[in-house]
Amino acid sequence: MDELTAKARAAQGYARAEYSGFRVGAAIESSDGRIFNGCNVESSSYGLSICAERCALVKALSEGADGFTRIVIVTDAAKPAPPCGACRQLLWDYAPNINIITIAGERRAEFSLKDIYPHPFGRDNLQDIKD
Ligand code: THU
Repeated sequence: MDELTAKARAAQGYARAEYSGFRVGAAIESSDGRIFNGCNVESSSYGLSICAERCALVKALSEGADGFTRIVIVTDAAKPAPPCGACRQLLWDYAPNINIITIAGERRAEFSLKDIYPHPFGRDNLQDIKD
């Protein structure tokens, strides 16, 4: 198992999925080689729950990391889970060139963010109101 996957698995062990039971771990790698991991953290006010991918990304950004290349996502689901829409948006904002590796048991899928988030909202759209 590579280091990124190992760190995603380690984070999955800390998942706070007391409401859904769906435990997710993620690990993201920055251009300077650092790895940041995260897990999903659920709230009794369900909508406040945070996905593992955003947890890992926000940890990385808050430590000054940038230039993200790969993120590994680990679940116990029957098939590899892709990131949700909210995570795709935040990844687009801070890691547009990232490759996503998602693992469930022995199964694994890999794709680029650009392939699974083809028409993103982004900073360019905010410029439109200033014209
Ligand atoms: N979740 C993630 O952490 N990442 C995903 O890509 C999809 C969903 C979490 C959110 C919630 O805690 C649980 O999984 C069920 O949706």
